[in-house]
Amino acid sequence: MSPPEHFAVEYAINPWMDTTAPVDTELAVKQWEGLRETFVRLGHTVHVLAPEIGLPDMVYAANGAFSVDGVVYGARFKYPQRIPEAAAHRRFYVDHGGWRFVTPAETNEGEGDFAYLPSFLGGTILAGHGFRTETAAHAEAQEALGRPVISLRLVDPRFYHLDVALAPLDDSNVAYYPGAFSEATRSVLRQLFPDAVLADEEDALAFGLNLVSDGRNVVLNTEATGLAAKLRAAGYVPVPVELTELKKGGGSVKCCVAELRP
Ligand code: ARG
Repeated sequence: MSPPEHFAVEYAINPWMDTTAPVDTELAVKQWEGLRETFVRLGHTVHVLAPEIGLPDMVYAANGAFSVDGVVYGARFKYPQRIPEAAAHRRFYVDHGGWRFVTPAETNEGEGDFAYLPSFLGGTILAGHGFRTETAAHAEAQEALGRPVISLRLVDPRFYHLDVALAPLDDSNVAYYPGAFSEATRSVLRQLFPDAVLADEEDALAFGLNLVSDGRNVVLNTEATGLAAKLRAAGYVPVPVELTELKKGGGSVKCCVAELRP
C-alpha cells in the first residue's frame, strides 16, 4: 500500500520524513513513554494531550501553541494536514482554565518556531522564520504576549523549525547550530549570546538541539553525543533519551513537548 497523498506532500516539505522507512509503532510508543517518564522523574508535571484519529503529527505537541505568563498565542499551521491540531491545543488551555488564549491570524507553528528566555532583557521571545512561521506572526506574537520578539532567519531546509536549530538552556542562554541561520542572523546571535553553546552539524543532524532543559537537566536525543559532552563541560546535566522512531517523523524531544508557562 502506498502512503496517503498528504504524507507525500509532507515528505517534500520536511526532509526528515522518509515515509518509506517503516516505523516500529510499538517501539515508538515505548520511546514516547520513556520520554514522559523522564520528565516525571525529573520532577515535572506532564499533561497528555489526547491523540485524535487522522492527526498522526499530534505527537509533536510543541507546534500547537506558545505560552508566556498565562497568555497563549495559538498556532495556525502552514500545511493543511496539521491545521485541525490547533483546535485540540486551544481546547486544552480553555478546559484547564487560568489562561488567556489569543487566536492567531498569521501562520505560525507554536513552539516549533518560538522560544522564550524569561531572564534575557527581562523576558524575550526568539522566533524563527523561513520555512513554516511567517514574519507577520512574529509581530502578532509580540502584540499578543507583550514581550520583545527577535526574528531569526532559518535558511537550511533540514532545520525547518527554530526548535531543531536553537534551544534555550536556561533563563538567558541558548545552544544553537550557526549553519541553520542566515549570515545576518548568525551575527545577531553572536551579539546576543556570546556564551552560547555551539552545536556542530553532526549534533544538529542528530536532533541534539531539539532538547528540553529545565535550567540544569537537559533532556536530549541520545545520538547527540558531542553536544552532550559540550553541555556537561558548560555545567549542565545531559539526560539522553532514545527517540529513533519519533525522528522518522521529523521530531525529537522538544517537538514532543509543549511547555506551559502559566
Ligand atoms: N512531521 C512534523 C512536521 O513536519 C514534525 C514536526 C516536528 N516538530 C517540531 N517542533 N519541530 O510538521
